[in-house]
Amino acid sequence: MSNESGASASPPFAAVTELRLGRPDDFHLHLRDGAALESVLPFTARQFGRALVMPNLKPPVTTVAMAAAYRERILRACPADATFEPLMTLYLTDHTTADEVARVAESGFIKAFKYYPAGATTHSDSGVTALKNVYPVLAAMQQHGVVLCIHGETTDPATDVFDREAIFVEHSLTQIVRDFPALKVVVEHITTREAADFVDAAAANVGATITPQHLLFNRTSIFSGGIRPHLYCLPILKRESHRQRLLAAATSGSPKFFLGTDSAPHSRNSKETCCGAAGCFTSHAAMELYAEAFDAVGALDKLDAFASRFGARFYGLPRNAGTITLRRETWSPPDAFAFGQETIVPLTQGRALGWRLGA
Ligand code: DOR
Ligand code: ZN
Repeated sequence: MSNESGASASPPFAAVTELRLGRPDDFHLHLRDGAALESVLPFTARQFGRALVMPNLKPPVTTVAMAAAYRERILRACPADATFEPLMTLYLTDHTTADEVARVAESGFIKAFKYYPAGATTHSDSGVTALKNVYPVLAAMQQHGVVLCIHGETTDPATDVFDREAIFVEHSLTQIVRDFPALKVVVEHITTREAADFVDAAAANVGATITPQHLLFNRTSIFSGGIRPHLYCLPILKRESHRQRLLAAATSGSPKFFLGTDSAPHSRNSKETCCGAAGCFTSHAAMELYAEAFDAVGALDKLDAFASRFGARFYGLPRNAGTITLRRETWSPPDAFAFGQETIVPLTQGRALGWRLGA
């Protein structure tokens, strides 16, 4: 797929036509609920063995009981032939208690809390309004070994949207990691050199997920020939030098960087409008998109660990049984899919892919 960046080195794996990978995991996924959930879940279940399911529903998933009920709805929506395991998260609020953290630790099926700074992104209005409000709860997570997944953007409206992640890293993330040195932290969907450098330099209990869109596109792509709402997500795509840094991180072989698509479905109507929603839908071709990105920098040999080993290791999970196969083949995914009563337009709209998931 053209990434509009002009990067076109002749890759050393050009002769590779088939890739067999361990069945991968998606450590950052939005499945929504109801008819929307039924529409998008099969795409993930056919590629991934497990996915870490984000809790930003309306109302948000804030208790173990709510997560258990949501998990049941996901399992009911799962295609009968799929062997897919949803890994659940709870939405951290100013009112989360240390007792809830203890219940999460005992639950077995909830793998993390998700920290949204209030107002940072879609359905984040119930998020954390000040870092100090959750200090007792972060202490409890550290004590119980519960993972904290962070949407790392400052919410100060005066901060330029392209600087929000770097400022969050410099202030809030630095503070969290300093004050809770044993807390397991995943900096979600990193988009900048600053975030990649921070995670690289941190201890082994600090990791990061990287999305396909941040590996394949830069901020100029959003305005290529006109405004492209299906490339709009948060944190927003950054300039090309940041994309290059993310590619270096993802293909470095460091176990701190692993796969999390942040596939975030929104209806076509809610994106192609005067004030469009943030989120890119990629579940229909997630592994193909990552293969595209790794192939473009001659790093296909690094994809298996990024997709099927490092995330599981970070979360203390066994590797999935089974494998998937990707074939070098030019094909074009559909430009729209059913999404409940509406339609959804994927990130790949109007683009051809060079890899395809085998049967
Ligand atoms: O672009 C995004 N969409 N970023 C997020 O953090 C949330 C997500 C969503 O839920 O739509
Ligand atoms: Zn997300």
